[in-house]
Amino acid sequence: MKDFKRHLVTAALPYANGPVHIGHLAGNFLPADIYSRYLRAQKKDVKFICGTDEHGVPITIRAMKEGVTPQEIVDRYHAIISESLETMGISFDIFSRTSKPIHHETSQAFFKTLYENGLFEEKETEQYFDEEKQTFLADRYITGTCPKCGNENAYGDQCEKCGSTLSPDELIHPKSTLSDSVPVKRKTKHWYLPLQNYESWLKQWIVEDHQEWKNNVYGQCKSWLDNGLQPRAMTRDSNWGVKVPLPDAEGKVLYVWFDAPIGYISATKELTPQWSDYWCKEDTQLVHFLGKDNIVFHCIIFPAMLKAHGGFVLPDNVPANEFLNIEGEKVSTSRNWAVWVDEYLKDFPDMQDALRYVLTANAPETKDNDFTWKDFQDRNNNELVSILGNFVNRALVLMHKLCNGKVPPFHADIKDEQDDALYEKIVGTKLLLQQSIEHYRFREALFTVIDLAREGNKYLQEKEPWKKAGQQEAIDNCIHMCLQLSANLAIYMNPFLPFTANKLCKLMKVVPRMLDWENGGSLKLLNTGYPLNPPELLFRKIEDEEIQIQIDKLHQNAKQKSEEPAAVSAYIQPPIKPEIQFEDFDKIDLRTGTITSAEKVAKADKLLKLTIDLGFEQRTVVSGIALHYTPEDVIGMQVTLVANLAPRKMRGIESNGMILMSEDAAGKLIFVHPQTNAANGANVK
Ligand code: 2FM
Ligand code: ZN
Repeated sequence: MKDFKRHLVTAALPYANGPVHIGHLAGNFLPADIYSRYLRAQKKDVKFICGTDEHGVPITIRAMKEGVTPQEIVDRYHAIISESLETMGISFDIFSRTSKPIHHETSQAFFKTLYENGLFEEKETEQYFDEEKQTFLADRYITGTCPKCGNENAYGDQCEKCGSTLSPDELIHPKSTLSDSVPVKRKTKHWYLPLQNYESWLKQWIVEDHQEWKNNVYGQCKSWLDNGLQPRAMTRDSNWGVKVPLPDAEGKVLYVWFDAPIGYISATKELTPQWSDYWCKEDTQLVHFLGKDNIVFHCIIFPAMLKAHGGFVLPDNVPANEFLNIEGEKVSTSRNWAVWVDEYLKDFPDMQDALRYVLTANAPETKDNDFTWKDFQDRNNNELVSILGNFVNRALVLMHKLCNGKVPPFHADIKDEQDDALYEKIVGTKLLLQQSIEHYRFREALFTVIDLAREGNKYLQEKEPWKKAGQQEAIDNCIHMCLQLSANLAIYMNPFLPFTANKLCKLMKVVPRMLDWENGGSLKLLNTGYPLNPPELLFRKIEDEEIQIQIDKLHQNAKQKSEEPAAVSAYIQPPIKPEIQFEDFDKIDLRTGTITSAEKVAKADKLLKLTIDLGFEQRTVVSGIALHYTPEDVIGMQVTLVANLAPRKMRGIESNGMILMSEDAAGKLIFVHPQTNAANGANVK
């Protein structure tokens, strides 16, 4: 590896719209953690950065589905995600949140720099707008019929049935998912980053200068670049996100893919006052770990942003993984086909390393891969328990049996070829591991560790110290070698299986500093004559019943989900309207009144005809509340009325005013009442 002065390692920020599943672990958290732990063991200066991505449509959709505010969603899931990842031993130096003020400030300042340098194109386009909800619609909020396969529930960005990528304009009979109404086109202005201006620079930087990147990453980038880049809007119409820091940008926020990667910078700022050493000095190695769906953002868009801004380092590598399927099927959070990390930890407490092991062994490094519970059991039982755990356990048990519980001496005068061969394996493994890890081949690295344990078992089997009664020196040498090998295994497994490595340190009564990489390959890790703790198993077997429970749970979760009624709530706060003066407000005459009669309006699902007693007169008002209230519900209710609204005919009935309504989190209309009985006809001010 090039000699970098410092390393900045990032794992893609998970959306705070749900817990993390094992695909997230296998795809980016584990490889990033292994790499960071390896660098730390080498005493390198490394900062491992992550946090939750708390903006964007995924958050608002989740809030809408649950009928709560986006803030509640991100608070809840930030806590769940950070606890799961910490318990799994993902050793972030910081796990921040993009909702923090430091992030809002940092991303706004970034945007402003590009704006002030004239690097955005300002464009007005027509986009779908929901008149009922008074809001522009993100692509995901529009459904309609897929022009390619006729699926009536295709989304504005994608048809999940035939897999086509769509734009909202292509949908037949578009419909807003927020109100079910037909959206209209409205003009809106946005700021675009002209990616085409960075195309030739990106081609040079990736296609020419980074041919060492993984094939899957390099290939995806090349195909984007070959197809030609287009301007991409860096702002959106929404009220959830980082506000666009310009005066004429009411109701607009930064595109989530603009602000999220800047989250890496703001989290580093939060972590250390030396943040700019990491981000701005050329001798930093920046490595982004992520899943394949994030490649374009980290290899094309974010680098173009960094280049446009100037002064930042660019990623040295982006070792993205493909996807991890579960039991042969794609992970789907909407179908609840997933293994959730928080649930795993409840069912298998203290078995973090088993999961870390299996997910690394099966990591989708070059192609999509499959996780099955059976394979989880097999790898745990046949590799961790039978090879690694078994070897260490045998070494410790035999030491207690044959060497008085102390590290026996090594008698160099009777050293043989097998001892030499084992020593060479120990040293060779270190080099192989370095090669693999530094090229982001973590599966290969993990298998190298297991192979070394396998060699240990073979050595022990060949030497058979239990049959050497009376040849204490031969016994000593064998056990000495096995114990030194165990200590080396602790060093080598540490980036992958940190819990086990630490447990082994305790059994061998050595300080965790022994795990420093520089100690790997030494046969002097344990002192002769040193008493060790009684053996304890490093891993436990997993029984068939435990696996069956997990398989059943997976299917049950999916079944339950498919039987859930579709969410109907639609919580969304429309943007604040342009400012008005007091005089404007003062023109509205608000009065208290009591509903004295109510009836349904024929052939109009949504309308009730109401009579309202204002004390000095009876008013007829037609109100669009019939989907939420029956006439009986509202008779006798005191309400607030806009009393000087120009009359309007609805279904042939003249309506003389409008009742003030708000909405609950599930989108149900609710009355704005006086707190106690007000006088009918009283002013509301
Ligand atoms: O795909 C995702 O889950 C995104 N939240 C990843 C963001 S990575 C970075 F840019 F912040
Ligand atoms: Zn389709």
